[in-house]
Amino acid sequence: MTLPVLTVPDSRLRQVAAPVREVDRGVVHLMEEMLETMYAAPGIGLSAPQVGILKRVIVVDIAGSRAGSISEQDPLCMANPAILWASGEYSSYNEGCLSLPGQYATVNRPSRILLRYLDRQNKMRDCTADGLLATVLQHEMDHLDGVLFVDYLSKLKRDMITRRLQKARRLRQPASA
Ligand code: NI
Repeated sequence: MTLPVLTVPDSRLRQVAAPVREVDRGVVHLMEEMLETMYAAPGIGLSAPQVGILKRVIVVDIAGSRAGSISEQDPLCMANPAILWASGEYSSYNEGCLSLPGQYATVNRPSRILLRYLDRQNKMRDCTADGLLATVLQHEMDHLDGVLFVDYLSKLKRDMITRRLQKARRLRQPASA
């Protein structure tokens, strides 16, 4: 079953999500529904807060792109992901977000990261990621702290995106009499 994806300015997108105690059947079920939702959107990453669940869970699949590497197969399902190390070098990608439909902007982030997380079997894993994958993972982990990619932009650019989203919302929801 696909889940509805929240869009700005929903306040749940600005909350800090809670760690999961363990990856039990409920969390695995959530990961499966998030994958289904992400593929249907379509998107290459999704965090639980974006579907209104304030838990530290993300899913990522950049299978279509070969611009990253990781020591595990796609798709990635992670609980309680944490960055242990980030490179001093930065990469920039044109980022988008299912919670800010149709909006894109260039964001700089560390180009290589080492992270630790719980996998679908509740096993603790460490892995490194680079390229697009490193960016997507950082973008999704930001969601767990209520951070959106527009937060990295200048106020001018951020306001421009906010105005475009407000306009798109007005067009979708005609004013009632
Ligand atoms: Ni996003």
